[in-house]
Amino acid sequence: MLLVHKLEAGYGESIIVRDISLEVRPGQVVCLMGRNGVGKTTLLKSIMGVLKTRGGSISFMDADMTRKAPGLRAAAGIGYVPQGREIFAQLSVYENLLLGLESSKESRKRGIPEEALAKFPVLETMYTRKGGDLSGGQQQQLAFARALASRPKLLLLDEPTEGIQPSIVQEIRDVITNIKNQGDTAILLVEQSLEFVRSVADYVYVIDKGTVVAAGAIDEMNEDELHRYLAV
Ligand SMILES: Nc1ncnc2c1ncn2[C@@H]1O[C@H](COP(=O)(O)OP(=O)(O)O)[C@@H](O)[C@H]1O
Ligand SMILES: [Mg+2]
Repeated sequence: MLLVHKLEAGYGESIIVRDISLEVRPGQVVCLMGRNGVGKTTLLKSIMGVLKTRGGSISFMDADMTRKAPGLRAAAGIGYVPQGREIFAQLSVYENLLLGLESSKESRKRGIPEEALAKFPVLETMYTRKGGDLSGGQQQQLAFARALASRPKLLLLDEPTEGIQPSIVQEIRDVITNIKNQGDTAILLVEQSLEFVRSVADYVYVIDKGTVVAAGAIDEMNEDELHRYLAV
């Protein structure tokens, strides 16, 4: 579904992501792990197209996305929940959700799908509240629902459990598991907690200094090796 080949990306003079190749298949949850600052967010931004790549290629559902604008990637079916959530503080919950429909004419016509809201029931009770008045966990749920509003085929999730209370972490875990069990949507997830990764992932890529240093099915990953790459 998603094929990243020898990707290179960075900011200004500095190259952050180098020679990264990875694959995400339909129905899979693939995790990106690695210490702070190794380039995980930079990689997701490149896949979404909000950061231009310097080399390599990105293909999604057999279409070349390498030079496509982020809007076209969203319209093709890539949904993105950025790190830090990026909820519009001055807009209402409902308005934030509507922005998730802007990726294509079809989603605008369809409106916010029931199932996106059903996954996060708390949001429906908060429609008129301002995004900025929600708790961190509620904002994360809103960002997740906003991404689901366009019915993406691939979801890019950047540390959705970062700084969030355990009960909402559990809800996010359930939503990810539920999406995975439906079998048609793929997820590329950046996550720091090995325990969380073990509970949802099929496959893991470990990133260090902008490149893949270990990869494999989660059941086959060596625990000591993982800890070594993740230790600060
Ligand atoms: N907008 C930016 N401009 C310049 N450098 C950046 C920018 N964003 C991130 N970086 C640098 O790129 C490196 C990787 O960052 P990032 O991709 O956010 O890592 P991670 O998500 O793995 O913690 C870091 O050294 C960071 O300082
Ligand atoms: Mg990051």
